[in-house]
Amino acid sequence: MSDPNGVVPTIAAIRAAVSAAKATGRTVALVPTMGALHAGHAELIRAAQRRAGFVVVSIFVNPTQFGPTEDFGKYPRTLDADRALCAEAGADSIFAPSAAEMYPGGFGAFVEVPKLDGVLCGARRPGHFRGVCTVVLKLFHIVRPDIALFGAKDAQQSIILKKMVRDLDVPVEMQIEPTVREADGLAMSSRNRYLSPAERGLAPRIFAALQSVRSRAGAGERDVAALRAGLHSDLAAIPGARVDYAEILDAESLETTDRLAKPALAAAAVFLGGTRLIDNLILGD
Ligand code: PAF
Repeated sequence: MSDPNGVVPTIAAIRAAVSAAKATGRTVALVPTMGALHAGHAELIRAAQRRAGFVVVSIFVNPTQFGPTEDFGKYPRTLDADRALCAEAGADSIFAPSAAEMYPGGFGAFVEVPKLDGVLCGARRPGHFRGVCTVVLKLFHIVRPDIALFGAKDAQQSIILKKMVRDLDVPVEMQIEPTVREADGLAMSSRNRYLSPAERGLAPRIFAALQSVRSRAGAGERDVAALRAGLHSDLAAIPGARVDYAEILDAESLETTDRLAKPALAAAAVFLGGTRLIDNLILGD
């Protein structure tokens, strides 16, 4: 990173830094994050660096995407460690605004992608994707990246943001990178640090359940209800788990489907104790 200690807190300053980079002909990539960075984020930053001459990582725990009973207050804030990871992975600038910088008094414009946000996490977390779309569109206007990178773990988020970019003619290329996993298969997530040792031991069974659905689909099972029931029962068998959803939907439209014909998204959200974990796999790709 050009200035490893420098965290840019204002919109004016990051705009100036990006303009200076663009003036030298550099392509700009943005990796939007909420901080508490892990190896999955490092992979996004490295992928951004391969594509662009100037990589901005935004770190902002976005209040508008948390529900009133969710973990906004306790969401991990680890700026020093995040700076080190950004420097190591090759970011050029960190944009870490305050809530007042992003949402000044009187703020009142929001972006929605209805229908796509009515299923999976959108159905369980009302207003979540409205908050995500609003902050990401603001970040796109502030940073004006040529490329933006997101992780495939948040599959519904990627589908919704791609639709927002298409429908609102946002001049940015969306690049979705594969989910990075721990050695035992658990998808990397900033929320994994909430897990107790016992919960951490059980958490890889979420990915195992998704893999088992993929095996059944690979072996020829086409009946989505049967596949969904198998996924649900594998997840429900994890001791102490509460299944928030276990779904198999069309991988592009997120519509329900009876038979596996086109690629489908097998997606799960599971509470282990108070921690809600999500993961997914594509079937029939
Ligand atoms: O995926 C996330 O970390 C967040 O939803 C994002 C895209 C940074 C928006 O706050």
